[in-house]
Amino acid sequence: MKINRIYINKLSSKIGKQVVIKGWVKVRRDQGKMVFLDFRDTTGVVQGVILPKSGAMDVGKNIREECVVEVTGKVNERPERNKKPNTQNGDIELEILKIIVLNFAEVLPFPIDGDTREVNESTRLKYRYLDLRTSRMQKNIKNRFKVQNFVRNYLSEQNFIEIETPILSVPTPEGSRSFIVPHRIWKGDFYALPQSPQQYKQLLMTAGFEKYFQFARCMRDEDARGDRQAEFTQLDMELAFVDEEDIMQINEQLLIELIKKQYPEKQIQQIPFPRITYAGAMEKYGNDRPDIREDKNNPNLLAFLWVVDFPMFEKTEDENVDGTGEWTFTHNPFSKPKDEHLKMFMNKENIGNILTTQYDIILNGFEIGGGSIRNHKSEALKKTFEIMGYTDDKIEKNFGHILEAFSYGAPPHGGIAWGFDRLIMILENELSIREVIPFAKTGDGKDLILGAPAQISDKQKKELGVKITKINT
Ligand code: AMO
Repeated sequence: MKINRIYINKLSSKIGKQVVIKGWVKVRRDQGKMVFLDFRDTTGVVQGVILPKSGAMDVGKNIREECVVEVTGKVNERPERNKKPNTQNGDIELEILKIIVLNFAEVLPFPIDGDTREVNESTRLKYRYLDLRTSRMQKNIKNRFKVQNFVRNYLSEQNFIEIETPILSVPTPEGSRSFIVPHRIWKGDFYALPQSPQQYKQLLMTAGFEKYFQFARCMRDEDARGDRQAEFTQLDMELAFVDEEDIMQINEQLLIELIKKQYPEKQIQQIPFPRITYAGAMEKYGNDRPDIREDKNNPNLLAFLWVVDFPMFEKTEDENVDGTGEWTFTHNPFSKPKDEHLKMFMNKENIGNILTTQYDIILNGFEIGGGSIRNHKSEALKKTFEIMGYTDDKIEKNFGHILEAFSYGAPPHGGIAWGFDRLIMILENELSIREVIPFAKTGDGKDLILGAPAQISDKQKKELGVKITKINT
């Protein structure tokens, strides 16, 4: 009779029974007459033993760690003195009767039974699928999923809907650098990968969806750092008929609930989250994302802080380059100035003193999110581009579509985006977002497993109408 496979975390309910488990050999200890094997599957670990006369002895003697196996065994309660109270399956042991090797494993390039933080990072990233077998990385990725699931359920209960926006989009002149994708039919024309779904989410407000969110992949051609990757995930949100207070409240509540449910061991330093102005933060801390934890050695302390009242514009380093003027936006060109500064803005006066509705959320010294109320009226949004010195032609070419969209009845709206990887990094007490991104790239943007980025064939170049003038050596 075929016995169904049972997951390792269910074994303790099967004492005295014969079971079949499937998984990997985590540890092998050959003690001569007996062989001890620890097995791992996606739910955990159990210790097994091959007793002297077991039919599994031959296989057990020749098997290697990380081999994939199907094991038939009997679940025995351990004698009292051998019980390990705070270990999964610490009260049982699997008496191994039969082992079928489903796949053999070569010796791994690095050990995975401990913490791979000590291993050279390019080796870890090249063999990410092995690195991900470690218990810490399994925990990080599973908790990432749990948080994502919690957020999805929470927001959908509040009548938000998740909407996917395009990945193939248009290059824009503003913002940090985009990744560019050539088109086969429209030779010489390019898509750009989105740096964020900013314009699409505002068009969704114009379309009347009112409460949008998305776990959005964003791509920015910037150098990677501990808290930055070329490809990352935002929890992106936008709502119609809201002000700054509404958005800050919704996000604060969501963060509090999330931490209470998913990370009960953590403690939020101050509720409601404190707020500081940009000017106040610069004066008091010398930066706009201060770490205000009272005890920086407490790994469970979470100190949230809202930073508000940012200047809307700042001087560009290079004046009048590319036909643009001497001002540029500090955060987001679509943000609205604060109501009390709207008149100054519409009259294009005291540009440097105009404050925006932008709010950033800081956690333990990291910027984990930011957003604003938007300029939903075409004539007001146009002023931003005029202040930045864009000509009417340039405004029309680059932003005509959104100015037109807003002229057909766009509601007042605003939103925010969390740097989801950064939030998970902090919640998991990690020092780099690479520890919580399954297939992270290296600091210089390489995917070491598949070998991206990579050159394309001459045939592809021809088909795409692309000519390379300089090749990195
Ligand atoms: P912003 O550019 O501030 O705003 O991005 C929002 C949040 O995303 C995170 N973040 C990153 N995380 C990892 N790697 C990166 N390269 C990276 N860049 C940014 C940060 C940041 O706070 N559309 C607006 C949001 C809005 O106004 O609604 C936006 O993208 O945690």
